Amino acid sequence: MTTLLRNCWYVALPGKDLKPGKMVHRKMLGEPVLIGRRKDGQVFAMRDICPHRGIPLRYGWMEGEDVCCCYHGWRFNTEDGGCREIPSLTEHDNLDISRIKIPTYACREVQGHIWVYFAEDSKKEVDPADIPPVPTIPDFGKIGPGVSETIHFACHIDHAIIGLMDPAHGPYVHSSWWWRSGPRKFRVKEKQYEPVSQGFRLVPYDMPVSARPYKILGDNVSIEIVFELPSVRTEILRGDRYSACLLTTITPIDETQCIAFQSIYWTIPWMGVFKPLLSLLTRKFLAQDRDVVIQQQEGLAYNPSLMLIDDADTQAKWYFRIKYEYQKAIAENRPFKNPIEPKILRWRS
Ligand code: FES
Repeated sequence: MTTLLRNCWYVALPGKDLKPGKMVHRKMLGEPVLIGRRKDGQVFAMRDICPHRGIPLRYGWMEGEDVCCCYHGWRFNTEDGGCREIPSLTEHDNLDISRIKIPTYACREVQGHIWVYFAEDSKKEVDPADIPPVPTIPDFGKIGPGVSETIHFACHIDHAIIGLMDPAHGPYVHSSWWWRSGPRKFRVKEKQYEPVSQGFRLVPYDMPVSARPYKILGDNVSIEIVFELPSVRTEILRGDRYSACLLTTITPIDETQCIAFQSIYWTIPWMGVFKPLLSLLTRKFLAQDRDVVIQQQEGLAYNPSLMLIDDADTQAKWYFRIKYEYQKAIAENRPFKNPIEPKILRWRS
């Protein structure tokens, strides 16, 4: 089995980073992907390799709805990848250019992110009816993120994901004078979890009245944290006045590296003034995670056997179980059956 999940949506980049008429290259799941935005605002994704002589199409340019290759000017439609023109042909040539095609990917812009769908085989056309909906944060409609940060992780996506859901690393990795001062004030945490469609969630519970920063959302603030395959984690805070959400998604570049996207959404009208501060804190947090992963790679280079303990690492165990079941269900052509049972997890942090 491949270690990178397919038949899934992955974030390619924040929508704000792609202006109309522009194209960018991203390596995703080991594949070269050209992502662009047409003048009408629509986004597209296609294989970033010219079928003529292999040069990446990103070195070319866009003309209307088409992409033109920089080498010999072949023109390809961004909707279906079909070749529209080969400038060197004369009326004496009888090449059927309608047979020349670049594989395209389903590509959507949702809540401020550009998502690309990776089918089982990127070179085969996919029936749109077989493509699942793009992951969407409930309650936030078409709202885009107020803050959006991206960071490179020099590790396999599995390590980034289990780091993301690891409740025991915070006091050590995210120890800062402005956040928390270290492991001295450990308390026992006890949280109820349950399965959701392709993942699991922390069952929503009310934040303690003493949690003052959350009061900006109003009274009765509750928190819900959901993780779903392949790598989407949403942490939603709902108050009786406003809501806020931290969305984290991870996209594999290949088997050895990945990109994390972290975005904050809110419905608070005056929150915009805090954008610079929130961006700074988000970057700091992500950098702390990235730095520990870089150190971890030094040890992993020796291929040590690793441990997952109860209950602090139970979410990591669940991740591997649902990932395995997801791949098995596809291989056996049957529906995914979530193996997670509701459970209370306890740990000290
Ligand atoms: S390599 Fe692209 S047109 Fe020739």
